[in-house]
Amino acid sequence: MVLIDGKKVAADIRNELKEKISKAKSEVKNIPGLVAILVGDDPASKIYVSRKGKACEEIGMRTQTEIFPSSITEEELLSVIDQYNANSDYHGILVQLPLPKHIDETHVIERISPQKDVDGFHPVNVGNLVIGKDTFASCTPAGIQELLKRYEISTEGKHVVVVGRSNIVGKPIANIMLQKQKFANSVVTVCHSAASDLGYYTRQADILIAAIGRADFITADMVKDGVVVIDVGINRIDAPHLPKGYRIVGDVEFETVSKKASYITPVPGGVGPMTIAMLLSNTFKAFEAFNK
Ligand code: GUN
Repeated sequence: MVLIDGKKVAADIRNELKEKISKAKSEVKNIPGLVAILVGDDPASKIYVSRKGKACEEIGMRTQTEIFPSSITEEELLSVIDQYNANSDYHGILVQLPLPKHIDETHVIERISPQKDVDGFHPVNVGNLVIGKDTFASCTPAGIQELLKRYEISTEGKHVVVVGRSNIVGKPIANIMLQKQKFANSVVTVCHSAASDLGYYTRQADILIAAIGRADFITADMVKDGVVVIDVGINRIDAPHLPKGYRIVGDVEFETVSKKASYITPVPGGVGPMTIAMLLSNTFKAFEAFNK
């Protein structure tokens, strides 16, 4: 069994980007920039945004974090996005989700210029992904494909079973793996909570992608021998004996499933670190397109 080291792959990607940015600095006298917009004080969102900022700084990318109270109106937030759409120092705009209830997420996502939508959430980019055009793909799914690529895991004609149908992970990864392209060209099944017998589908998977959001949900009886397991889950479970009082587990019961798997991503340290790496990579891509 091979443990897929997302931390290492993410570090490799950051180093590659660091070199490219330093080259751009000397050649085109410009560097890529990413603005992260945070509304409210959700602790998890604050941590994500601060990690994104640090990751930018570490590779020499321009970065700005805009923090607003949850009382900001939708109009005010949209006008902040307009400002950054027009600001040529910033090639990527990220609005951390979720947003407060009085703000319509779709209005916000659709206001971001598709050329700066490094999260890949804008319907234009989602549409381009579906029809197989080069685009910004949502960062976690892009990270999953990158892991398969860097571990040289064969995907062509393989049965990829995705559990979960979110707009951020399930739907985009299904569309990515379906494309008649390298590191994809798979036969894809998407299943979800309405399936009466989920195991019927998951047992057929050559590559199982679990993006359910429920701790230890996929058990050994639900997979076949030799399966490649990609665990997208990040679930907090009580662990009173630990200093933090909790531990993070995936959607896959690692202890038992890893015994049957040929490759598996750990949680933490698997898919998680790839999300920010791909965000940086998408921002660099936006910067390159801007300079063309
Ligand atoms: N909230 C949870 N995941 C994400 C993400 O990938 N991007 C943004 N912007 N918000 C999120």
